[in-house]
Amino acid sequence: MSVELTLQAPVAHITLNRPEKSNAFDNTVIESLIDAFDRAGADDQTRVIVLDAAGKHFSAGADLNWMRAMGQLDHEENQRDALRLAALMARIDQAGKPVIARVQGAAFGGALGLICAADMAVAADNARFCLSEVKLGILPAVIAPYVVRALGPRQARRYFMTAEVIAAPRARELGIVHEVVAEDQLDATVEALVDALLKGAPEAQLEARDLVRRSDEQPLDENLIGYTAELIARLRTGDEGQEGLAAFLEKRAPAWSAS
Ligand code: ACO
Repeated sequence: MSVELTLQAPVAHITLNRPEKSNAFDNTVIESLIDAFDRAGADDQTRVIVLDAAGKHFSAGADLNWMRAMGQLDHEENQRDALRLAALMARIDQAGKPVIARVQGAAFGGALGLICAADMAVAADNARFCLSEVKLGILPAVIAPYVVRALGPRQARRYFMTAEVIAAPRARELGIVHEVVAEDQLDATVEALVDALLKGAPEAQLEARDLVRRSDEQPLDENLIGYTAELIARLRTGDEGQEGLAAFLEKRAPAWSAS
């Protein structure tokens, strides 16, 4: 299987498992990833999804044999195919659980979309990133909304156009990943993020993700202000809010917390 889903409550691992092709993804891999995110997102026992990869590299991006074969299909078929990658990006971005990307080795082309669509990403110090598409005569199209959101438009213009290889420390500066650690510290770093996530309330975390998106995308007007007031009014009177506030005041762990 080119994608493995391992449900080990409270964590689901979705693992790119095509190391002989540097975890390059074709339409089969994309469909398997969509299915894995749907299943992990819907699993009641899962609290966090870790997107990781077997072998030396996280992913070499789109499978170039598959991309070349697209030349045999008409425009409509090409568009339909590209929309499946877009569907995958949206699945990761709006997954039913928080998503952590765990990155080692190369993350090229479309792989950057997978990483930037995740809520957070940690990389080994050997990781290197590249929006290599223009070197191949194409461009990072479907992943652009997620990559530009992470890098900001000015940095994105440079790296979309130059296809320079970005070393891990620079990727952290640019906002592609949140942490860079020695490869043997990757699992411990992911675990620390998982532990932090498990202490938070699941519904509040998904609302928080949505709040960040709205705050970033919407004008700061009465609509957004009204939305933020409605949100806290709803959450502090809801089950999770009441449980979390009571737990703090009663000096006990809230019901959702694993510890
Ligand atoms: N598609 C299909 N096969 C690939 C891809 C790819 N994107 N990338 C690597 N492979 C294959 C290689 O052809 C090779 O297969 P082979 O052993 O059958 O010849 C195998 O994976 C291993 O690749 P190597 O290049 O030998 O591994 P190395 O560790 O030296 O380099 C690296 C890895 C940096 C990822 C390199 O393979 C590379 O630059 N690949 C292209 C990456 C790229 O530009 N991706 C963007 C695609 S466009 C897009 O995503 C929209």
